[in-house]
Amino acid sequence: MAIAIMTSGGDCAGMNPAIKQFVDYCFTRGVQPFLIYDGLEGLIDGSIRPATYEDVAGIMHEGGTKIRSSRSKRFFEYEYRKKAYDNLQAHNIDKIVILGGDGSFRALNQFHKDFGVNFVGIPATIDNDIFGTEYCLGVDTALNIIRQATDAVRDTSASFKRACVIETMGRDCGYLALVSAITCGAEVCIIPELEYDLEAIGQRLKQELENGRKYIVCVVAEGCFADKCTSTEQLVTWLEEDIGIETRATILGHVQRGGNPTVYDRLMASEFATFAVDRLLSNNTGGSVIVYNKSEFEFVTIDYVNSQKYEIRKDLLELAKRLVN
Ligand code: F6P
Repeated sequence: MAIAIMTSGGDCAGMNPAIKQFVDYCFTRGVQPFLIYDGLEGLIDGSIRPATYEDVAGIMHEGGTKIRSSRSKRFFEYEYRKKAYDNLQAHNIDKIVILGGDGSFRALNQFHKDFGVNFVGIPATIDNDIFGTEYCLGVDTALNIIRQATDAVRDTSASFKRACVIETMGRDCGYLALVSAITCGAEVCIIPELEYDLEAIGQRLKQELENGRKYIVCVVAEGCFADKCTSTEQLVTWLEEDIGIETRATILGHVQRGGNPTVYDRLMASEFATFAVDRLLSNNTGGSVIVYNKSEFEFVTIDYVNSQKYEIRKDLLELAKRLVN
């Protein structure tokens, strides 16, 4: 029987190094690797091909995913999962490595329940919001892109004695914004995980400006304003009207998801992929996720990953407390 790899959901830097290591390592282990193109959609449509060395040569330094990705609604329906299973059967594939987030893992868990296909999930999302693992592939690269952008925006903000509001990604999780605020020396950090007090922040900023501060850097996470009826735009207005400082906003958007993977993400990708292949070749594992905690890799169940919401480490949150009031 053969083994395949696929990428699903939001892409991230590190997926290509993982795909390359998967293919090269499978050949080392004497197994024919397969590539599933276009994520779950491709699995349904039969976009599956045996991999060659050539497919993965020269992709180590590239962002995104060479085998592409998708978000699939059809995979929720049994009829399409059956189609996907028949496609795998046609190639004798009974094991899958899937890179993605918890939604992708849940989809394959259902697939395993339906047809017994074994799989290992590799946590891969710049949001770093999967419960059970301290690290998800792609986060280090995204943080470095945010760092570079914030450093550049700071240069021009300082030149004009302005404030800047940098909005990061992170649908439900403020990890990217939090770490960026700490490591870029921001004055304000707004994330869903920390209560913020605009009035207190305002008083502090005014005092700091009186005491010689010339510019202000605010880092905010997307989606954290939902219950407060405010937005990056409104924060800009508030800085201009209440604090009295000219302000510009930079919404980083998808630039954070691309870019060439950092050394850390390349190394993590290689390790995640190797352990995943070893696991799948060693026994019938069912479905599991490889997680990384306290410098060690281990395997956990999908139920465990789904059992709780990811929470940012308390000590990291503590570091940013002075930026929220
Ligand atoms: O990959 C995760 C993520 O980047 C979130 O931070 C963001 O909200 C979302 O994906 C954007 O998704 P899409 O690429 O579908 O617009």
